[in-house]
Order: sequence, then C-alpha cells, then structure tokens
Amino acid sequence: MGGKKSCGIFPRAVLAATGLVFALAGSGSVVFAKSDKAAHGSESCVTGECHAKIGTERFVHGPVAAGDCTVCHKPKKKHKFEPIGNVGKLCADCHERLDKQKYVHAPVKEGKCFTCHDSHQSPYKFQLRAAGAELCFKCHDKSKIMSGKFVHGPVAVGSCTTCHAVHQAEFPKLLRTTANAICFECHADKAEAFKTRKFTHAPVSKSCTECHDPHSGNFKYNFKADGAQDLCLSCHKDKATDIAEATVKHKGLNTEKKCLACHDPHVSDYAKQLSMQPADLCMSCHDRDYGSAANMKAFLADNAIAHGPIKQKDCSGCHNTHGSKNFRMLRENFPPVFYAAYNPDNYKLCFMCHENSLASDARTTKLTAFRNGDQNLHYVHVNKSVKGRTCRACHDAHATNNPRHIRDSVPFSAWELPVGFRKTETGGQCLPGCHKMFAYDRMQAVKNQ
Ligand code: HEC
Ligand code: HEC
Ligand code: HEC
Ligand code: HEC
Ligand code: HEC
Ligand code: HEC
Ligand code: HEC
Ligand code: HEC
Ligand code: HEC
Ligand code: HEC
Ligand code: HEC
Ligand code: HEC
Ligand code: HEC
Repeated sequence: MGGKKSCGIFPRAVLAATGLVFALAGSGSVVFAKSDKAAHGSESCVTGECHAKIGTERFVHGPVAAGDCTVCHKPKKKHKFEPIGNVGKLCADCHERLDKQKYVHAPVKEGKCFTCHDSHQSPYKFQLRAAGAELCFKCHDKSKIMSGKFVHGPVAVGSCTTCHAVHQAEFPKLLRTTANAICFECHADKAEAFKTRKFTHAPVSKSCTECHDPHSGNFKYNFKADGAQDLCLSCHKDKATDIAEATVKHKGLNTEKKCLACHDPHVSDYAKQLSMQPADLCMSCHDRDYGSAANMKAFLADNAIAHGPIKQKDCSGCHNTHGSKNFRMLRENFPPVFYAAYNPDNYKLCFMCHENSLASDARTTKLTAFRNGDQNLHYVHVNKSVKGRTCRACHDAHATNNPRHIRDSVPFSAWELPVGFRKTETGGQCLPGCHKMFAYDRMQAVKNQ
C-alpha cells in the first residue's frame, strides 16, 4: 500500500486522544467537518483531532490497521469521498465472495456485510458488531428462539454457529450439514445406537427436528408438546380417536411413561417401534396381579401347553393394546359369561382364526374332532337358544396343561367348576361339574347312559 495515495499508517500513540467530529453527508459519503484545509495527501486521516477513535478497538480491520483509508473511501475532491454504494462488492474486492452456495443469508445476499461487521474495528473478533448470539439477536427474535422453559445446550451458551453457517450454506436454514448429521456431531452416542437397529421411526429418518426443536421448547427435550403422549398423538391422530373411543381402556397406556412404556420413539429391533419383543413387553407389566387381571407371566409358566398365537408370542392377535370396545380389550367379541344364546357373532374373536361353522351343524365328520361318531359335540354344547356354553366353559384362550387347551376348571360364580377332561386316541371323556362322566369317540360313537 506504500506506493499508493494513502492516509499513512495511523499513529497508535495518538489514538487515545480526543474524539473526532464528522458528519455523514448522504449515504456513505464522508465529510470531515474539521478538516477544511486538510489536503489529506500525505497527512494521516487519524490524528489526535481526526477520526481519533479508529484503530482503538481490540480488533482492527487489516487495511484500516495499515492506515489505508482510501482503498475504500475513494477521494472525489478535497475531503469529499465517493459514497460507498455497494458494500458487498467493496468487500469482495479483497475477500472471497460469500454468495456462491445454494443458500445465502439474506443480509449477505444484499451485500450488507456491515450489518454484522464493522468496516473499521470492533471489540469483537472479525470486527463483529456483537459477540456470539447477541449478534444474531440484533435481527432475530431472541424471545422466540430462546422461548421455552428448556433451552438446548449449545443455544443456551449462544453458540449459534456450531450449527449454522453465517454467510452461506449448501443446506437449508443455513445449516452446516443436514439436520440429522448436525445432531449426530454432538450426540455421537445416538448416531451409533441408531445405525445398528432394524427399524427407524419414519420422522426420525426425515429429521430430528420433526419432534425436537433445535433451539428450545416448553417441554422436556425441546418438544412442542409433552413427549410421552401428546407429541405422539399430534401426528397419530387416528390413534387419539381409537383411544378416546375405546370403552375398555388399557391402564397400561396410563403409566407415567405413557406411550413410551412400550414404544421407542427413535429406533427399535422390533416392528411397530416396540421397545421389546411384544410378548415380553406385555410381561414387563403383567408379571404381577393387578386389580382384575391375573399375573399372566406366572400363569403361562404354570400352564405348559400354550395356544398357537401365544406360542408365536402374539398377544396382539387377540388383544388390542390401545383399548377396544370388547371385553378385555379383545379385538372381537368374546362373551365374558359362562352361558350365552348361540350366535356365531359372539365368538368372532375365535373365528378370526378358526372355522366359524365349528358349532353350526348337528351332524358332521369334518367340522370338529369334538364329536361322538358324527354327532357334533360343539353343536351340542354351544349351539343352544338358551344357556349355550360359551367356549370359556371348556377352553382357556391362553394356555392349559391339557391337550386342546381344555381347562382343569372354569370359574362358575364363586365355584371353580372342574372339567375333568381326558383325551384318548380317537376321542375323550369329561367329568365336569355339569354332568356325570361322558365319553366320546369319533370312530365308534359311545353310548353314554
Ligand atoms: C474496508 C473498507 C474501509 C476502509 C479501509 C475504511 N473505511 Fe471508513 N467506512 C467504510 C464503510 C463501508 C463505511 C460506511 C458503512 C459503515 O458504517 O460501515 C465507512 C464509514 C466511515 C465513516 C463514517 C462514519 C462511520 O464510522 O460510520 C468514517 C468517518 C470513516 N469511514 C473513516 C475512515 C477512515 C479514517 C479510514 C482509515 C483509517 C477508513 N474509514 C477506512 C469502509 C472502510
Ligand atoms: C483492500 C482490501 C480489503 C477490503 C476492501 C476489505 N478487506 Fe477485510 N480484510 C483485509 C485484510 C488485508 C484483512 C486482514 C487479513 C488477515 O489478518 O489475515 C482483512 C480482514 C477482514 C476480516 C477478519 C478476518 C480474519 O480472519 O481475521 C473481516 C471479518 C473482514 N476483513 C471483513 C471485511 C468486510 C466486511 C469488508 C467490506 C466492508 C472488507 N473486509 C473489505 C482486506 C480488505
Ligand atoms: C449475519 C452476520 C454477518 C454478515 C451479514 C456477514 N458476516 Fe462475515 N462473519 C460473520 C460472523 C459471525 C463471522 C465469524 C466466523 C464464523 O463464526 O463463522 C464472520 C466471519 C467473516 C470473515 C472471516 C472468517 C471467514 O469466514 O473467512 C470474513 C472475511 C467475513 N466474515 C466477511 C464477510 C463479508 C465480505 C460479508 C458480506 C458479503 C460478511 N462477512 C457478512 C457474520 C456475518
Ligand atoms: C442484519 C440482520 C441479521 C443478522 C444480524 C442475522 N440475521 Fe439471520 N436472517 C436475517 C434475515 C433478513 C433473514 C431472512 C428472513 C427470514 O427468513 O427470517 C435471515 C434468515 C436466517 C436463517 C434462515 C435461513 C433460511 O434459509 O430460512 C437463519 C438460520 C439465520 N438467519 C441465522 C442467523 C444466525 C445464526 C445469525 C447470527 C450469526 C443471524 N442469522 C444474524 C437477518 C439477520
Ligand atoms: C443444535 C443446532 C442449532 C443451534 C445451536 C442453533 N440452531 Fe438455529 N436451527 C437449527 C435447525 C436444525 C434449524 C432448522 C429447523 C427446522 O427445519 O425446523 C434451525 C433454524 C433456525 C432459524 C430459521 C427459523 C425458521 O423458522 O425458519 C433461525 C433464524 C435460527 N435457526 C437461528 C438460530 C440462532 C440465532 C441461534 C443461536 C441463538 C441458533 N439458531 C442456534 C439448528 C440450530
Ligand atoms: C454443538 C453440539 C450439539 C449439537 C450440534 C446438538 N446438540 Fe443436542 N445437546 C448438546 C448438549 C451440550 C446438550 C446438553 C446435554 C446435557 O444437559 O446433558 C444437548 C441436549 C440435547 C437434548 C436433551 C438431552 C437431555 O438429556 O436433556 C436433546 C433432545 C438434544 N440435545 C437433541 C439434539 C438435536 C435434535 C440436535 C440436532 C438438531 C442436537 N441436539 C444437536 C449439544 C449438541
Ligand atoms: C418422533 C419424535 C422424535 C424424533 C423424530 C426424534 N426424537 Fe429424540 N426423543 C423423542 C422422545 C419422545 C424422547 C424422550 C425419550 C424418553 O424419555 O425415553 C427423545 C429423547 C431424545 C434425547 C434425550 C434422551 C436420550 O435418549 O438420550 C436425545 C439426545 C434425542 N432424543 C436425540 C434425537 C436425535 C439426534 C434425533 C434425530 C436423529 C431424534 N432425537 C429424533 C422423540 C423424537
Ligand atoms: C412428526 C410426526 C410423528 C410424531 C410426533 C410421532 N410419529 Fe409415529 N409415525 C409417524 C409416521 C409418519 C409414521 C409412519 C407412517 C405410519 O405408519 O403411520 C409413524 C409410525 C409409527 C409407528 C408404526 C411403526 C411401524 O413399524 O409401522 C408407531 C408404533 C409410532 N409411529 C409410534 C409413535 C409414538 C409412540 C410417538 C410418540 C413418542 C410417535 N409415533 C410420534 C409420525 C410421527
Ligand atoms: C402397553 C403397551 C403400549 C402402549 C402403552 C402404547 N402402545 Fe402403541 N402399540 C403397542 C403394540 C403391542 C403395538 C402393535 C400392535 C399390533 O401389532 O397390532 C402398537 C402399535 C402402535 C402403532 C402402529 C399402528 C398399529 O396400531 O398397529 C401406533 C401408531 C402406536 N402403537 C401408537 C401409540 C401411541 C401414540 C401410544 C400412546 C398414546 C401408544 N401407542 C401406546 C403397544 C403399546
Ligand atoms: C406399562 C405396563 C403395562 C404393559 C406393558 C401392558 N399392560 Fe396390560 N395392563 C396394565 C395395567 C396397569 C392394567 C390394569 C389392570 C387392572 O387394574 O385392572 C392392564 C390390563 C390389561 C388387560 C385387562 C383389561 C381390562 O380392563 O379388562 C389386558 C387384557 C391387558 N392388560 C393386556 C395387555 C397386553 C396384551 C399387553 C402387551 C401388548 C399389555 N397388557 C401390556 C399394564 C400394562
Ligand atoms: C387367542 C386369543 C388371545 C391371545 C393370543 C391372548 N389373549 Fe389374553 N385374553 C384372551 C381372552 C379371551 C381373555 C379373557 C379371558 C377370560 O376372561 O376368560 C383374555 C384375558 C387377558 C388378560 C386379563 C387377565 C385375566 O385374568 O383374565 C390379560 C392380562 C391378558 N389376556 C394378557 C394377555 C397376554 C399378555 C397375551 C400374550 C402373552 C395374551 N393375553 C394373549 C384372549 C387372548
Ligand atoms: C390369532 C389367531 C387365533 C385366534 C384368535 C384363536 N386361535 Fe385357537 N389356535 C390358533 C392357532 C395358530 C392354533 C394352533 C393350530 C395348530 O397347532 O395346528 C390354535 C389352536 C387352538 C386349539 C387347539 C387345537 C389343537 O389342535 O390342539 C383350540 C382348542 C383353540 N385354538 C381354541 C381357540 C378358541 C376357543 C379361541 C377363541 C377364544 C381361539 N382359539 C382363538 C390361532 C387362533
Ligand atoms: C363343552 C366343552 C367345549 C366347549 C363349550 C367348546 N369346546 Fe372346543 N373343544 C372341546 C373339546 C373337548 C375339544 C377337543 C376335541 C378332540 O380333539 O378330541 C375341542 C376342540 C376345539 C378346537 C380344535 C379343533 C376341533 O374342532 O377339533 C377348536 C378350534 C375349538 N374347540 C374351538 C372352540 C370354540 C371357538 C368354542 C366356542 C365357540 C368351543 N371350542 C367350545 C370342548 C369344547
């Protein structure tokens, strides 16, 4: 800069001296009120009298530090300077352009570098006009970004630029990389855990910010709503309706963890975002006696012959975990009582998987093995207009220690009514609390007295 017409290196020693008086005539056109006679040729612009404060701050811009004022302020005539019309363009004379990437920050695009940088000097690094987040809050609403009760770690400490580029970026919202990759930079433990799991919840693949506000929130973990349930229902509106309309509610939905008692919001090795293998999940609570529900874990441990869907660990085959309109949250009808007039609709639950004609014909050689010759004993017991025996009179839906899931006994009011079943090759016999011992045989009909 030596050879050029310059204001010279300003003498730092004088800088602490008196203030300077000047007026800004027009936009960016600088008039030095005091220096009517100053030619500014070889004289310094920064003297004890003139522009004395320039250069006093901790961070001084390169050319200013070099005392080269005219590199930016082009002299027009004596102490008249060209207005600096396009600051962005001026800066680009010496600095790399900052509007080349896909997303450019509005003030950068408009060439308003000076809104963030002081062209001369400042107490802050890079001659910034304020430090950290305070700079951003000159234009962005602090009360919005730091609104909630919970503020995200890096936001709380004003570190906006760990996530955002300030000038330009290849990613939306000026992010330094994709939203999820940004999160994983710090939450590295999550990155590891998320990669190795089989199922990822759809919104998690899309963006962490579908649920977590990256800045702050009124709810724990910066959610827009309570994360244990309301957040879920804000997207799963159909579930909200199902749950509201269920007449038989599952108290398992109302433990402290709500939806999170069963679902993992992020990733899982089990379908439907379940946090455990489904039957184990049920047993995580049903391993004790509740008010009206027996200890299912103990029951299954005591009853070795499990029903097909139980063997497949598919409790949802029969129960709707989020509640239903049927007894015991069953998916379909199943009578809670010992006697019922025959109507196949009563047994829809069983007939989801089994032949619904099981008890429809009095005579059969195909419909069921529960027959004496061709006499259908399911028909005999179940298909009555009054006091038909419901399936529960003989079968247990979960498990028993007898073949064909025949119970040892069945609750009959206050009494445990015994069933007394024994199976044979071609039939069986019962000695229940209902009648004396009867036997049946499919090959050779038994004549019971
Ligand atoms: C890198 C370019 C650049 C250099 C070098 C520069 N200025 Fe400026 N100056 C500007 C810009 C741009 C403005 C107007 C916009 C603003 O406020 O930042 C300005 C504004 C001014 C103003 C108006 C008041 C103010 O501060 O806003 C004065 C006075 C001034 N400069 C004096 C100087 C002096 C004296 C020097 C040399 C010691 C100097 N400038 C060096 C860019 C520069
Ligand atoms: C005449 C050339 C020139 C112009 C025009 C210019 N600068 Fe500079 N700028 C420099 C030099 C030289 C440095 C010092 C570089 C260094 O220290 O590595 C610098 C440093 C900076 C720095 C600090 C960078 C760092 O790494 O510390 C910022 C920020 C900056 N300039 C912003 C601006 C802005 C904003 C404008 C437009 C108002 C502008 N510059 C115009 C030459 C210029
Ligand atoms: C919205 C505020 C803002 C605007 C507008 C802005 N900058 Fe910056 N600039 C910053 C911040 C903050 C930094 C500090 C570096 C960082 O945190 O990435 C910076 C750093 C710089 C640096 C030094 C570090 C680097 O990235 O090379 C230069 C040079 C620079 N800016 C030039 C410019 C120029 C030229 C313009 C106008 C085209 C401009 N800035 C507009 C906020 C801004
Ligand atoms: C001089 C004013 C100004 C300053 C200072 C400023 N911004 Fe901005 N910023 C804007 C404007 C204007 C927009 C575009 C309008 C909008 O979308 O709200 C914007 C938009 C943004 C966006 C959204 C970009 C998009 O693609 O939608 C982000 C992110 C952002 N700014 C971050 C920051 C950060 C971080 C800082 C501090 C380093 C900062 N801003 C400082 C004015 C500013
Ligand atoms: C942990 C990373 C992170 C930090 C730290 C961070 N942001 Fe953001 N910011 C984001 C993400 C991610 C988005 C995009 C949100 C979305 O897409 O919903 C965003 C969006 C924005 C937007 C655009 C808002 C809109 O509604 O379009 C602004 C403005 C913004 N941030 C400013 C800031 C400011 C100011 C700070 C510092 C106080 C800051 N951010 C700190 C990650 C961050
Ligand atoms: C710059 C590092 C950084 C980035 C990037 C970052 N976080 Fe954080 N995050 C933190 C820190 C630090 C905490 C506070 C940890 C604490 O209090 O134990 C935190 C806390 C959290 C918490 C609350 C955890 C708790 O135990 O209270 C959530 C949720 C969170 N971050 C989500 C995100 C999401 C989503 C993103 C991406 C948009 C993200 N973070 C990006 C550093 C980061
Ligand atoms: C569908 C909504 C949703 C999405 C999307 C989501 N989260 Fe979460 N996140 C939650 C819920 C709910 C919790 C609370 C979990 C709990 O209390 O057991 C949570 C908790 C967290 C926590 C703090 C507790 C912990 O497990 O350490 C972090 C960190 C976190 N999430 C990071 C992320 C990251 C990173 C992403 C994106 C890859 C993400 N989340 C996407 C719902 C979501
Ligand atoms: C931002 C919206 C959103 C939020 C919040 C949300 N989900 Fe989802 N969830 C989805 C989308 C989208 C799908 C995939 C489409 C579908 O199957 O409905 C999905 C799928 C699911 C599935 C089925 C997965 C599968 O394999 O079929 C379960 C279970 C689930 N979410 C539970 C939850 C729980 C629990 C919460 C609260 C912690 C929650 N969701 C919060 C959007 C959301
Ligand atoms: C007691 C455990 C449990 C709780 C608590 C629970 N779920 Fe589920 N959820 C399940 C099971 C088990 C499945 C798989 C059901 C199936 O396969 O039919 C499931 C499936 C889902 C599905 C997938 C769609 C479907 O019905 O198959 C969504 C969505 C869902 N749950 C949302 C929620 C929401 C929202 C909450 C909180 C209001 C919640 N769940 C609470 C156990 C639970
Ligand atoms: C988080 C704990 C929890 C989990 C997990 C859980 N339950 Fe429950 N369940 C309960 C509670 C509490 C009750 C209420 C018992 C009572 O007091 O009547 C209940 C009751 C039931 C009832 C009887 C409902 C009625 O009112 O008639 C059935 C059936 C049931 N659960 C099935 C399941 C199935 C199937 C699963 C697995 C998909 C499951 N539960 C998982 C806590 C849980
Ligand atoms: C084949 C259908 C079916 C399957 C599969 C099934 N249940 Fe049930 N469950 C029922 C029926 C029917 C009842 C009502 C039984 C009764 O009252 O005799 C019931 C009742 C219950 C009850 C109420 C407790 C009680 O004392 O009667 C619980 C708890 C329960 N089931 C849990 C489970 C669990 C856990 C699984 C998976 C291991 C499961 N069920 C699988 C049909 C089924
Ligand atoms: C979700 C499907 C499903 C439902 C609902 C269902 N079952 Fe089953 N059932 C099966 C499967 C699978 C088997 C095993 C078949 C096999 O091993 O060949 C089975 C076997 C049986 C057996 C024993 C058959 C044998 O060969 O040992 C009886 C008895 C039985 N179920 C009765 C019932 C009753 C009573 C209901 C209604 C409470 C019912 N089932 C509901 C699927 C179901
Ligand atoms: C009076 C007792 C009794 C009643 C009531 C009863 N069953 Fe059975 N059921 C049996 C016996 C005994 C067998 C075993 C037949 C054999 O294999 O010898 C059986 C067998 C079955 C089988 C295995 C396939 C077959 O038909 O041989 C199914 C499925 C079945 N019952 C379903 C039901 C359903 C559904 C109901 C209610 C609609 C019901 N049962 C009512 C006693 C009964």
